[in-house]
Amino acid sequence: MKAKRLVVVSNRLPIVLNRTGAREWKIRPGSGGLVTAMGPVLRHRGGLWIGWLGIPENDCPSDEYLRDIISAGTDQSGYSLRHINLCKEEIDKYYYGFSNETLWPLFHDLFTHCKFDQGCWDAYQRVNRKFAEEVIRHTDHDDYIWVHDYQLILVARELRRLGFDRQVGFFLHIPFPPLDIFLKLPWRFQVLDALLEYDLIGFQTARDRKNFIGCVRALTDYQVTGRGHVNSIHTDERPVLVGAFPISIDYREFNDFAKTQEVADEAWIIHANLPGRQIILGIDRLDYTKGISHRLLAFENALARYPDMRRRVTLLQVVVPSRRNVEEYEKLKQEVERLVGEINGKYTEVGWTPVHYIFRSIDRQELAAYYRTCEIALITPLKDGMNLVAKEYCASNIEENGVLILSEFAGAAAQLYPNALIVNPYDLEGVADAIYKAFTMPQDTRRMMMRRLRASIQRNDIVKWVNSFLKAGISKELSDFPQMELFVPKQ
Ligand code: UDP
Ligand code: G6P
Repeated sequence: MKAKRLVVVSNRLPIVLNRTGAREWKIRPGSGGLVTAMGPVLRHRGGLWIGWLGIPENDCPSDEYLRDIISAGTDQSGYSLRHINLCKEEIDKYYYGFSNETLWPLFHDLFTHCKFDQGCWDAYQRVNRKFAEEVIRHTDHDDYIWVHDYQLILVARELRRLGFDRQVGFFLHIPFPPLDIFLKLPWRFQVLDALLEYDLIGFQTARDRKNFIGCVRALTDYQVTGRGHVNSIHTDERPVLVGAFPISIDYREFNDFAKTQEVADEAWIIHANLPGRQIILGIDRLDYTKGISHRLLAFENALARYPDMRRRVTLLQVVVPSRRNVEEYEKLKQEVERLVGEINGKYTEVGWTPVHYIFRSIDRQELAAYYRTCEIALITPLKDGMNLVAKEYCASNIEENGVLILSEFAGAAAQLYPNALIVNPYDLEGVADAIYKAFTMPQDTRRMMMRRLRASIQRNDIVKWVNSFLKAGISKELSDFPQMELFVPKQ
């Protein structure tokens, strides 16, 4: 049987254009886990990636010029990109509005950050329709259509309305909320029905799948069968497969890159500038789901309660700018900078600044150097679909002396909990205790835990993830992905 071409459809393409002059544009890589995960998938398998370039239609260059700058400025050998134009109003209402001020906070259980607006819902429907039309225009029967994430939940519904009868898969990169939270959405039936227009729906964890099945059972009459890895929902139109497929990274790429001389040199410089200290690393997009303020407070608590850590640790917090037009994000930036200032004001001594704060995106080499050299990774989201930074840290920690402190509310905890220090990010004293435990952890314990973390990520890498999803999606074959447990914290 001829292998199908893979067509990935996501809001974001792996590159973002910035207009820098009347006839000048700059290309930079998009940030966030979706782009990091799907980049290697398309590089390995080839295919087509449909999405948005991150700027308004009016600021986009002509198609011809665009083709040239994209091919000159990107490494997308083996697959092609097709971009979707969005006007300023669509960006405001579909992207900032419904996607990032309604679905994003709601699905992350942060209901108080939600805005519900009929105009934004209308725009969300229109833009999903636009993506569906683009899929029809550029694909044929030999393609497998794979739609990604919360911005594009309605694409299959729109495809069906346009008479499209081929298989379509969907993967949700963010969590799926429990029934009580999902019910708050004024368009809950439309969103649920639209999800059931896909042939396969993938979630990050067993908990997300369970939440979704709970909503289906409560809000529809459809029969749900199957247990374990994949369930089937029998709608009037088609059986819909629903599974948990925890996303991963290209382990080999991170591991090999961390071993290069350039990364070794940069790692050496980082430590040479912070002599005699353990570095605690935090890397996050500027997002209230990441728990950055809670983390800073927990670090302060650790400095207050464990004075022997003073002068001997530095928290290196990288915050990558994100969704700048959403008010909540701007407020968060101010809050984070206030806390950094307060902690540094209170504890800095000559020759020691407790928090090093970076507010910009960093390049691949700098990132790998931090991952390789920092003794502790402090990853404490209030809620996160997976958190790829946690996996990237382990894959790049080639000297195997790092300790991973990980929030129990990150999807990654379900896989990594046996060999990480698992914390509740709201429990500031608990996080402070974990920091101290990591700081004082003997070398052989660190090595044993990191070795196991690395082995687990290597076994379950991005290639395994994509194969298991496509096997379920294209051939309806259930993969050999390990059954996922519901992660429940123990005393
Ligand atoms: N990352 C990035 N730019 C940076 C620093 C990090 O794009 O300056 C990447 C990082 O390598 C990781 C992704 O952003 O792959 C963050 O993914 P994660 O799943 O942790 O969180 P998300 O941002 O998707 O919510
Ligand atoms: C998360 C979402 C992605 C999104 C990324 C960056 O990873 O799951 O869909 O692309 O954040 O956010 P942005 O709004 O810049 O695309």
